[in-house]
Amino acid sequence: MNLSIQLAPKHPKGLLLANPVMTASGTWGYGTEESHLFDIQKLGAVVCKGTTLEPREGNPQPRLVETASGLLNSIGLENIGVEALIEEKAPIWAGWRVPVIVNIAGETVDEYAQVASRLEGIAGISGLEVNISCPNVKAGGAEFGANPDSAAEVTAAVRKATSLPMLVKLTPNTSDITQVAVAVAQAGADAVSLINTLKGMAIDIIRRRPLLGNITGGLSGPAIKPVALYMVYAVTGAVDIPVVGCGGITTASDALEFIMAGASAIQVGTASFANPRAPLDILEGIEQFMKKEGIDNIAELIGAARS
Ligand SMILES: Cc1cc2nc3c(=O)[nH]c(=O)nc-3n(C[C@H](O)[C@H](O)[C@H](O)COP(=O)(O)O)c2cc1C
Repeated sequence: MNLSIQLAPKHPKGLLLANPVMTASGTWGYGTEESHLFDIQKLGAVVCKGTTLEPREGNPQPRLVETASGLLNSIGLENIGVEALIEEKAPIWAGWRVPVIVNIAGETVDEYAQVASRLEGIAGISGLEVNISCPNVKAGGAEFGANPDSAAEVTAAVRKATSLPMLVKLTPNTSDITQVAVAVAQAGADAVSLINTLKGMAIDIIRRRPLLGNITGGLSGPAIKPVALYMVYAVTGAVDIPVVGCGGITTASDALEFIMAGASAIQVGTASFANPRAPLDILEGIEQFMKKEGIDNIAELIGAARS
């Protein structure tokens, strides 16, 4: 069976995955922590925690709240910073078979570009995923990805700063995600991944205070799956670059829904907190489905539910 996926067909080096199952940024650390739980090398790609120019301590606790069929988080991009990533993590990744994609974030367009250029030529890094769900400090804190112009501006700046394949990760917190997808594709994205978390909150009625230290957070998990699936379907119809689906994927059948909606690959996030083996279980489930249905090539399933 052929499960391989080319995620950056327009890029000179390309980004070839052995299969379509990836980890979602922020839910698998640097891929090094849980690698004893299963053979992480079997996955299509590992996407690491969002990385900024300087180390960040993140938001005040509590940062995680469970809700009905979902998880609220307000981690605030706690991370070790790009220099520590280059020194401590990249040398480990350089010995891996599975491609590692570094998720990058910033508070200004220039910060994104600086992180990207710092990662240029570092062994062990196969691509970048640009998280445009971050607040644009110079524009009053609106997410870069909330409008097509600022999304394209970040994309173009990172494109100039890197020769690596580049995914742009879209936010659902916008009025028309397809317009943002088209704008980042035109600005040089090799692929788009979607969705990041949906803005939400929860209140402790006894204390009469918000439950999250940061007041609001991002909702993930099964609660957001139908929203994510719809957005993947819509974006796939609007762009001619690969789309990576993410949002509430917990089982192989969830993953297959995204693939049939048009996703070339999928990412597993919150599901890994309940079952750290979830990405591998999902991969094995996709293989079993293909065997049962007599499908030799995953390409036959991509977009199968369209038209
Ligand atoms: C605890 C936590 C931390 C996250 N950190 C990041 C991050 O650093 N960068 C990013 O692009 N997305 C981050 N995300 C979003 C996920 O990668 C994913 O897009 C989202 O959770 C939806 O997928 P899921 O429902 O499978 O978790 C984070 C999500 C969670 C739950």
